[in-house]
Amino acid sequence: MEDLSELIDLAKRLPKAELHLHIEGSLEPGMVMQMAQRNRIDLPFKSSEELEALYDFRDLQSFLDLYFLATNVLQTEQDFYDLTWAYLEQCKAENIVHTEIFFDPQSHTHRGIPLRVVIDGIHGALTEAKSELDISSRLILCFLRHLPADDALATWQSAEPFLDRIDGVGLDSAEKDFPPELFTAVFQLAREAGLKTVAHAGEEGPPAYIRQAVDLLQVSRIDHGVRITEDAALLAEIARRQIPLTVCPLSNTRLCVYESMQEHPLLELLKQGLLVTVNSDDPAYFGGYLQQNFVAVIDALKPNREQVLQLVRNGFVASFLDEASQSRWLDEIEQSN
Ligand code: HPA
Ligand code: ZN
Repeated sequence: MEDLSELIDLAKRLPKAELHLHIEGSLEPGMVMQMAQRNRIDLPFKSSEELEALYDFRDLQSFLDLYFLATNVLQTEQDFYDLTWAYLEQCKAENIVHTEIFFDPQSHTHRGIPLRVVIDGIHGALTEAKSELDISSRLILCFLRHLPADDALATWQSAEPFLDRIDGVGLDSAEKDFPPELFTAVFQLAREAGLKTVAHAGEEGPPAYIRQAVDLLQVSRIDHGVRITEDAALLAEIARRQIPLTVCPLSNTRLCVYESMQEHPLLELLKQGLLVTVNSDDPAYFGGYLQQNFVAVIDALKPNREQVLQLVRNGFVASFLDEASQSRWLDEIEQSN
């Protein structure tokens, strides 16, 4: 039996990659209140404590309602910069050396915030993190699937002037009743422009959505994907093709996909040969950043040392880093373990 605290130290010490992080989901309550004040935004809660008292989610939608509400405080390029920089400082503290972050342009442009403001702020912080913190990154534009596919297409067109700063597109927000197939056309345009594609699927939605994301959107990775356990043939195929799943353990328990972490299939998926990674999703809302996800997984599922190492290695293998950079980090993991 491994000493769990040793594994927790190991997870902390190793260089890590994070591949599933909504930058708007790293908006901490203190920052919500501070930005609301400086931008004179009225909120239905008057303190960070009152806001945090609302962090009692039943499902994905109950979380999204609060997530979109808090997002309204983000107004200026400085706000987007500060939000992103705060997350990157946390990365530095946790030895996250590479991060691939999502942002939701529609939740800002629909409030009258120009896309340029959003991208300048986020990308400015990412650029500075490369030189100041030695953290590399990719930026992934997510379409909100509860909005019509035409809105995604219009968003794609408005993003075209910024494609030098965008590496991929993704699909997020309410999953049930909004199947990936609705977004086939816009994903095709993104692929034709040379971007990577990923999609949330199989979080609350059925395994059929994972199938659509792979076949129709031709994604490089599935975000969440945990309901793949319900379709053995699909699981075998995704394992054989080594299409990564970016799993978010604390998110899944906070949004009641599983009643407790003990029930989480993370290690089962690993044993079945799937390329699974650990990620924080919306760390300000779900009880912690990447390291807290590792701590929760180690405490509840009691993985062995090799499983922890595999999860950390997978973060790089599943990343959009070039092969030379991946190899460099994999070597570094071997040396520091
Ligand atoms: N699922 C779907 N949409 C989201 C999530 C998520 O976990 N987090 C932020 N937007
Ligand atoms: Zn997510």
